[in-house]
Amino acid sequence: MALADFAFLPEKPHHDAAIEAINDEAFGPGRFVKAAYHIREDGPHERDLSFVALSGEEVVGSVRLTRIAAGEGRGLLLGPLAVRPAFKNIGIGKRLVAIALDAARASGHGLVVLVGDAPYYGPLGFSRVPAGQLSMPRPVDAARLLACELTPGKLDAFRGVVRHAALAQ
Ligand SMILES: CC(C)(COP(=O)(O)OP(=O)(O)OC[C@H]1O[C@@H](n2cnc3c(N)ncnc32)[C@H](O)[C@@H]1OP(=O)(O)O)[C@@H](O)C(=O)NCCC(=O)NCCS
Repeated sequence: MALADFAFLPEKPHHDAAIEAINDEAFGPGRFVKAAYHIREDGPHERDLSFVALSGEEVVGSVRLTRIAAGEGRGLLLGPLAVRPAFKNIGIGKRLVAIALDAARASGHGLVVLVGDAPYYGPLGFSRVPAGQLSMPRPVDAARLLACELTPGKLDAFRGVVRHAALAQ
């Protein structure tokens, strides 16, 4: 299998059940207590900035972006990102992140934040948020709080408690 065998498309409502199954398979019930899940619970994700990887009709990977706010700053939360086990290590995860970042940039967004592994996301443009700048609604390992500035300097105003943007309007 090669990356060229997969289609990468914006997420549609009819993908929801398959995406839920992929996230359940990847993260299990533990996902419901994670800080990022807690934020995503408070409002919708951005369908136009969320993508699926398809093998034929089958959804084999998914990434979602959700609008978030912290202090005066606005940004996007990336996640969940998950790829079905049988399709790992082909490059689908990295392609999904790259496509989502491109779409976010094209829509005028300047910042993407996530909770994840720096060795995976570092080469994709993410680096560690300065210690103490952000707090999540539930504790996270500070080394896993990462940001990618699509517009240089956008992280500066993004300070304090991270919330769904719908709660900050
Ligand atoms: C993490 C995940 C999305 C990666 O998807 P994928 O399509 O297999 O990733 P890619 O093919 O783009 O990249 C694979 C490479 O990343 C590496 N990698 C995978 N997970 C990693 C991690 N957590 N930390 C560091 N490197 C990682 C692989 O070893 C591989 O390295 P190689 O290219 O040197 O062989 C997938 O493994 C998954 O769904 N995991 C369970 C859910 C999860 O942990 N999601 C991320 C939450 S932060």
